[in-house]
Amino acid sequence: MTVCEYRPGLEGVPATQSSISYVDGQAGILEYRGIPIEELAQRGTFLETAYLLIWGGLPSKQELEAFEHEICYHRRLKYRVRDMMKCFPESGHPMDALQACAAALGLFYSRRALDNPVYIQQAVVRLLAKIPTMVAAFQLMRKGNDPVQPRDDLNYSANFLYMLNEREPDPLAAHIFDVCLTLHAEHTINASTFSAMVTASTLTDPYAVVASAVGTLAGPLHGGANEEVIDMLEEIGSVENVRPYVERCIAEKAKIMGFGHRVYKVKDPRATILQGLAEQLFAKFGQDEYYAIALEMEQVVSEKLGAKGIYPNVDFYSGLVYRKLGIPTDLFTPIFAIARVAGWLAHWKEQLGENRIFRPTQIYTGPHDQPYVDLADRP
Ligand code: SDX
Repeated sequence: MTVCEYRPGLEGVPATQSSISYVDGQAGILEYRGIPIEELAQRGTFLETAYLLIWGGLPSKQELEAFEHEICYHRRLKYRVRDMMKCFPESGHPMDALQACAAALGLFYSRRALDNPVYIQQAVVRLLAKIPTMVAAFQLMRKGNDPVQPRDDLNYSANFLYMLNEREPDPLAAHIFDVCLTLHAEHTINASTFSAMVTASTLTDPYAVVASAVGTLAGPLHGGANEEVIDMLEEIGSVENVRPYVERCIAEKAKIMGFGHRVYKVKDPRATILQGLAEQLFAKFGQDEYYAIALEMEQVVSEKLGAKGIYPNVDFYSGLVYRKLGIPTDLFTPIFAIARVAGWLAHWKEQLGENRIFRPTQIYTGPHDQPYVDLADRP
């Protein structure tokens, strides 16, 4: 067996072979199953994209209708899941609530039949259908309200916004939200997808796979950055403060949230699209005071760190879109999870196709042949 050099963070180390998505980090290209992200964002829907990622090709009209219908049918939560959620503290982070709820689904559907296509299909549908309902239910319950039941006459994204805000969304808002989900649905072997794949490789159930991925997505170096960006823009407070803030971060070697990427060395193509979506919302619903600060940040960071390939990533402009949609900041990462479950499930399914348990090696750096010292003799 070839012994590979140690690469911290597995940088550049291929962990799998995959036909799900492709990133060219120098050219700023992202494709799902070979289709450019710009095409899907402009012409597709999130559920169509999820189908594409998971089943490998765009659905026919009939296939899409059947998929949408099934998802619509499975959107409700078991009352015991809702009862469990009532015990969650209101102050808890919604990502923790989501992780617990995703894992809890395994209590209801835990019979593992990973070689049965019907089991796979049902798990895919249940997870895609129920995760948005969980996020919306936690939001209402922590305000002391009953969760709102899903509405069958609304599509996936409009229904989520309806369940969240207890009113039917503006059509442009629902459309833009749907595009956001498409943009976040998949991104090769990012940390949470890798986590999903490692979990999947043990042949555990898909609810555990998604729960582990949700936990991984939550961190501020990954999906959690979208919330931190808004906190950062708030802290900066004005366009004049941007340059000193960036200079201080560079001097202190602090990470500037929403910038930099392991793969992209140019502006993330999703950030470009999200910025355009934010501008569409501002044109209809009014400016966001933070947008001018964000534009100045992009300018100053590119000037100072562009030579190192540090530009806005997907998390930089998404928060400005969600803010304009009236979504609270601590739901930004759960919304990322609503979308990314499509990618996790696609990789879960692909992993099962040619599974081998993930079991890398390590370079041991500790001592050998140490004496055991009795408790009484220890200092
Ligand atoms: C996502 O992988 C994916 O695909 C993820 C994702 C997806 O769709 O799944 O795209 C979603 O997670 C986006 C990333 C969100 N995170 C942030 O916005 C947090 C801020 N960014 C970073 O901490 C960082 O850029 C990472 C975590 C995204 C990438 O980390 P790497 O590849 O390990 O890079 P690094 O931290 O080793 O940095 C390399 C150099 C360093 O400088 P030197 O020590 O070599 O001089 O670049 C500098 C870093 O200091 N650097 C930054 C920076 N990001 C990198 N400096 C200031 N601010 C930053 N944001």
